[in-house]
Amino acid sequence: MAEIVIRNTNERITGVDNVRDFLNKQEVIYEHWNIEKLPEDLQTNFALTDEEKKRILGIYDAEIRDLASRRGYKIWDVITLSESTPNLEELLNKFEEVHTHSEDEIRAIVGGKGIFIIKGADDVGYFNVELEPGDVISVPENTPHFFTLMDNRQIIAVRLFVEENGWVAHPVADPGFQ
Ligand SMILES: [Fe+2]
Repeated sequence: MAEIVIRNTNERITGVDNVRDFLNKQEVIYEHWNIEKLPEDLQTNFALTDEEKKRILGIYDAEIRDLASRRGYKIWDVITLSESTPNLEELLNKFEEVHTHSEDEIRAIVGGKGIFIIKGADDVGYFNVELEPGDVISVPENTPHFFTLMDNRQIIAVRLFVEENGWVAHPVADPGFQ
């Protein structure tokens, strides 16, 4: 279950209702998939073959099509990141820059962990969303954010897109980021 840390105050928000209420107020969609549908070997394999990625998409086909019908996504895939990812350091350095997209950034975590750092309302500032398997989150379009891994440096996530070019990152130089 996701947890929130408000970066200005270090306040931690836990519990599904509190997390959902907070994220709803920040206009971040937060949903949950049943992670028990996914066989253990697929949850913990961070070097998935194309065939295994297809299996994951097949297992969550109903959830994906439900999101797509509600939110207009047209394409989806599975990504994995881990120590075995070539150029992991380089990729993370690139990820860890505040940016925006013209479409929302939706991720369903199915293995490992990750954090979205998102700019909230003025009275909140930036907050971390720590994500676990089963967490589904959508960062709204044009909202400054970035994504990174947690200490275990492993993640498997399903990504959905409205169009292939909609998620091109536009860097944001934000002196207010901390
Ligand atoms: Fe992004």
